[in-house]
Amino acid sequence: MAFERAALKSQAPKCQVEALTKRYGARAAVDAVTFDVDEGEFVVLLGPSGCGKTTMLRLVAGLAAPDEGRIRLDGKSVADPARDVFVRAERRGIGMVFQSYAIWPHMNVFENVAYPLRVRRQRGEEIKRKVESVLALVGLSAESRRSAAQLSGGQMQRVALARALVFDPTLLLFDEPLSNLDLKLRERLRLELKELQRRTGLTSIYVTHDQAEAVELADRILVMENGRVVQVGAPRELYHQPQSRFVAEFISTANIFAGQVLARLADDFASVKTMTGRELAVRHDGTVSEGDLVDVVIHPEDCRISVDESGRPDGYQARIVSRRYQGTSTRYTLDWAGEMFDVVVLGSEAPLAEGAEVTLTVPRERARIIVRNSARGTR
Ligand SMILES: Nc1ncnc2c1ncn2[C@@H]1O[C@H](COP(=O)(O)OP(=O)(O)OP(=O)(O)O)[C@@H](O)[C@H]1O
Ligand SMILES: [Mg+2]
Repeated sequence: MAFERAALKSQAPKCQVEALTKRYGARAAVDAVTFDVDEGEFVVLLGPSGCGKTTMLRLVAGLAAPDEGRIRLDGKSVADPARDVFVRAERRGIGMVFQSYAIWPHMNVFENVAYPLRVRRQRGEEIKRKVESVLALVGLSAESRRSAAQLSGGQMQRVALARALVFDPTLLLFDEPLSNLDLKLRERLRLELKELQRRTGLTSIYVTHDQAEAVELADRILVMENGRVVQVGAPRELYHQPQSRFVAEFISTANIFAGQVLARLADDFASVKTMTGRELAVRHDGTVSEGDLVDVVIHPEDCRISVDESGRPDGYQARIVSRRYQGTSTRYTLDWAGEMFDVVVLGSEAPLAEGAEVTLTVPRERARIIVRNSARGTR
């Protein structure tokens, strides 16, 4: 067993990106990015518009050449400008699915999916067998002979997926493949996609600016900002331990406010004074000192509000400014000593009225500190 594990460990990651840089003019669209993707892993690149996600995918795919750094697939170098290595896209064995489906409207579904195999000059029966099997996989067997022009958006995206899968790619790349679809369909296809990836075990890199999509799909999320990877982690880790305000804002709808550390307390807690003069106890990871400027992150679902607990020592007075019913929960916006603060209450309890004076409790072990301008880097 130990031997097997050692053998597995020694296997090269499926995809290795090292100090990769791509410049357009003076500006780096991808700036010294390093990461690995393991066999069977689903990695999501998440970040705002223009942060370099598509550029990153195009570099891995071989549709663009890096200025510096290296890319290896299955341990083999496919891009390394310092050594004059550049393997062309069609020789990298990578499947790609984009936002625009790039489906040929004049061909039927079967022919669209068969296309990559025809390009690779595979035999007729072989093509038929593979296309039928992959159409079954994406639930399109019955549409095989239909013209692609007649398909719905969701069906077209499934054709695009089938076409990317049909030649047994070593790696699958997705660039916002669901963003043209309506919300319901997007959520359903997201589930299907995850299920399909689990079944096939295909290593995938998926680009999105939608955090809900990232959290649901990813084994690991790489958060990008201005061409750089600013934090890497499992969705849960990014949610609970963001290392910067940027990541906290991007990954959640947390309450975030600026403050200063007054004193360190016992057991990894610190007392923080916010810019509006409130004092509260907050958890930290052991690196803060008195006087540090920090951001405090509190998730809305971690707090409680009530109308009858004004005597509680850990309670704060606040007033309900607005209330939004969200089906399985209610989101309240409070005025807490002059600053807006959101609280989400799960379940369908009788709602509290707008304008009501309430007691807000913030469990101190759930309030976290991010040190500003922290030099702590990425993995
Ligand atoms: N071919 C190009 N020529 C010049 N600049 C480019 C080119 N492609 C991308 N850029 C620039 O590189 C930066 C990153 O672009 P990229 O398309 O990778 O962003 P993105 O994260 O995919 O954004 P979006 O979410 O809007 O798709 C942008 O500033 C963009 O203008
Ligand atoms: Mg893009």
